[in-house]
Amino acid sequence: MWERVVEVTAIFPGDTQVYLAQIGPPAPSLAEMSILSIEERTRAGVFELPFLRSRFVWRRVLLRTVIAARLGCRPDEVDLRSSSMGRPFVAGAEVDFSMSHSRDVALITVTSGCGRIGVDVEAVLPIPDQEQIAEVAFTTQERRELRRYDLSSEAFYRIWTCKEACLKAIGTGFQLDPRAVEIGIMDLAAPTVRRAPGSSRLSLMCFEPTNGYTAALALQPEE
Ligand SMILES: CC(C)(COP(=O)(O)OP(=O)(O)OC[C@H]1O[C@@H](n2cnc3c(N)ncnc32)[C@H](O)[C@@H]1OP(=O)(O)O)[C@@H](O)C(=O)NCCC(=O)NCCS
Repeated sequence: MWERVVEVTAIFPGDTQVYLAQIGPPAPSLAEMSILSIEERTRAGVFELPFLRSRFVWRRVLLRTVIAARLGCRPDEVDLRSSSMGRPFVAGAEVDFSMSHSRDVALITVTSGCGRIGVDVEAVLPIPDQEQIAEVAFTTQERRELRRYDLSSEAFYRIWTCKEACLKAIGTGFQLDPRAVEIGIMDLAAPTVRRAPGSSRLSLMCFEPTNGYTAALALQPEE
């Protein structure tokens, strides 16, 4: 039943851990499906395409498994809820987590007692409308820096993943104007948060979780 968990790799030591999983075929079994809550099963049922439904179920099975291991309970006992902005959390537990997927790769990050975390992963593929996206989602300064890198996909995804990881740590996702968070990429390998709303003191790191993918992790420390 838990075989797939063996495929999950811890790539960060210490309290904050990031797990990488392939969420491609096979489809989850009925036993795996039964780990999900009724709400999650209802949500899974909304996906028309079987491979999208399957990816959703795997993400939730893995998320529950990772959190349950940390809390010392069963995966189906993890009381997953969502904020009014859609940010998931575990009711009554000192654990924070974030999840992202791109194609059949999923990243799950879990932390305890050090703040709110956000993660984003993207497959690095050329985007035909990259400039139009940057026009609406990036600040003037970010677009200036992007041009310094000849509008390269690497620079684009660096800004994008860092921004999305920050928006998840903040808890709004794209319900907040993505330009409210400004990412600096003077050094592509060490991006910084130049501006964020309110009292945010976000820290960032970026990494390549697996070949052809790029990811960012953002942490908003406890006040
Ligand atoms: C959150 C968001 C940035 C995710 O983007 P994405 O690239 O499509 O998908 P990702 O795989 O990277 O992330 C999805 C995960 O982000 C998490 N997430 C969703 N809303 C979030 C929020 N407000 N803050 C932090 N994390 C959030 C969930 O764990 C979600 O996984 P799920 O689909 O299995 O529930 C984007 O969907 C968004 O901004 N949505 C706005 C929130 C929204 O409209 N919610 C509606 C209910 S109020």
